[in-house]
Amino acid sequence: MPAIKNKSLNHQSKEWLRRHLKDPYVLQSQKDNYRSRAAYKLIEINQKFNIFKNVKMALDLGAAPGSWSEVLVKELKLPTKIVAIDLLNVDPISQVEIFKDDFTSDKFRAYIEKLEPFDLIVSDISPNMTGHRQTDFLRSMEMLEEAFALALDRLNNGGHFVAKYFRRGDLGALLVEAKKKFTKVSSFKPNASRKNSSEIYLVCYKKK
Ligand SMILES: C[S@@+](CC[C@H](N)C(=O)[O-])C[C@H]1O[C@@H](n2cnc3c(N)ncnc32)[C@H](O)[C@@H]1O
Repeated sequence: MPAIKNKSLNHQSKEWLRRHLKDPYVLQSQKDNYRSRAAYKLIEINQKFNIFKNVKMALDLGAAPGSWSEVLVKELKLPTKIVAIDLLNVDPISQVEIFKDDFTSDKFRAYIEKLEPFDLIVSDISPNMTGHRQTDFLRSMEMLEEAFALALDRLNNGGHFVAKYFRRGDLGALLVEAKKKFTKVSSFKPNASRKNSSEIYLVCYKKK
C-alpha cells in the first residue's frame, strides 16, 4: 500500500483512507470494475433472497455513483428496463435510463406512472446526516416511507422491494404494513456493510 503523506489530510481522514485502501470490498470492486464497494451489498442481498429472477423492469433509487445499477445490468437477463435516479449526477451506464432529480418529485413520479409496473425496486438512499441521532433516524424514516409508498404503488404483484434504513429506532407501522402487503419481510445486514455503520436493509419479498 502506498504511504499516505499528504500533509493536508488530518489524522482522521488518513485513518479512513488507510482502512479504505485495505478494504477487501474496495479491492474487489476495482477488479470487477464496479464504481463502488456498495455493489457487493446488493449482490449479497440477491444471493440470500433471490430477487433478480424474472425481473423485466427495475428501479434504482439513490443510485449514485452507480454500482447497484451496474450490478442490475450485469445480473438481470435482458430484455430489461432499468431506471435509476439520484440527486447527484450519475455518469452514463449502458442500458440504464438515468435521472438527476429527487425521487419524490412530481416530475419523476409522473414519468414512472407512464411506465409498466416494476418487478424490482431497490433503494440505497441515504439522506444527509446531521450527526444528531433522532433527527437522522426521522430523516431516514421519511425516505423509507416515501420509497415504500412508491413500491406499493408501482410494483407488480410478485415484485420485490429492498431499502436501506438505519437501525436507530423502530420501523413501527411501516413494518406492520409491509408484512400485510408482502409474502415475506426480513431485515438483513450484508457482510459488505461496514460493521460500525447502523445501516441495514429491509427486504420485502413478493408483493401480494
Ligand atoms: C449510499 S449512496 C447510493 C450508492 C449506490 N447504491 C451505488 O451502489 O453506487 C446514497 C445516495 O442517495 C442519494 N439520495 C438521497 N436522497 C435522495 C432523494 N431524495 N432522491 C434521490 N436520491 C437521493 C444521495 O444523493 C446518494 O447518492
